Amino acid sequence: MDNGKLISLKKITKTYQTGRIEVKALRGVDLDINKGEFLAIIGPSGSGKSTLMNIIGCLDIPTSGKYYLDGQPVEDMNIHKLASIRNKKIGFIFQNFNLLTYATAYENVEMPLIFAGKPGRIRKEKIMECLSSVGLADRAEHKPTELSGGEMQRVAIARALANDPEIILADEPTGNLDSRSGGEIIDLFEKLNQAGRSVVTITHDMNIASRCHRIIRLKDGLIESEKNNHQ
Ligand SMILES: Nc1ncnc2c1ncn2[C@@H]1O[C@H](COP(=O)(O)OP(=O)(O)O)[C@@H](O)[C@H]1O
Ligand SMILES: [Mg+2]
Repeated sequence: MDNGKLISLKKITKTYQTGRIEVKALRGVDLDINKGEFLAIIGPSGSGKSTLMNIIGCLDIPTSGKYYLDGQPVEDMNIHKLASIRNKKIGFIFQNFNLLTYATAYENVEMPLIFAGKPGRIRKEKIMECLSSVGLADRAEHKPTELSGGEMQRVAIARALANDPEIILADEPTGNLDSRSGGEIIDLFEKLNQAGRSVVTITHDMNIASRCHRIIRLKDGLIESEKNNHQ
């Protein structure tokens, strides 16, 4: 459908039902994300940022509304198709890294390649390419406990890049990092974006948001405002 639109959300709502309590986490979000965008999502705690990101990343489904990913309606996809799209098109980065604790950096990056059915020889080349791109080729055999927070997040980025996703989604990726390591993560995002990937990141840090090209502010489950950063 729409040219250049990677993601198109129409009137997305999400209501969580916990016992008798209903929480309206998203109350009708309209958002288009173009190919090659560098977008920050900001807003107070509880405003629905993670809920929105999980829906964009196909980790969760909306209560109502329409989501088109590369022009295809996501609700029409079965669970296998969705898992495969998620693995191929989307790289997800979390605040707490979500690395496998007992696996090396190499093995962590290998995981999505195994899911994608890539043969061993191709995997090896790709893993080392991804680790090199985040400056960690020499840490391939290290486990997360042997790495700093910033290095762990860089392994998570290498893992997110393994299947050449079109879009990188990050939920407060620098939230557990000191400002220097956080800065390195944003430097990497900038590089990935310059290489043509769309990058969407949730952040509390205005220094980070100001380096993105567009900033969306959520409040009470709605987009409250939007700003373009002219570089
Ligand atoms: N799995 C869940 N079950 C019930 N309520 C949830 C769940 N996830 C989030 N919420 C609620 O939805 C609202 C939005 O949460 P969230 O998207 O995590 O906000 P943010 O990331 O902006 O802090 C909050 O009120 C939160 O308590
Ligand atoms: Mg959150």
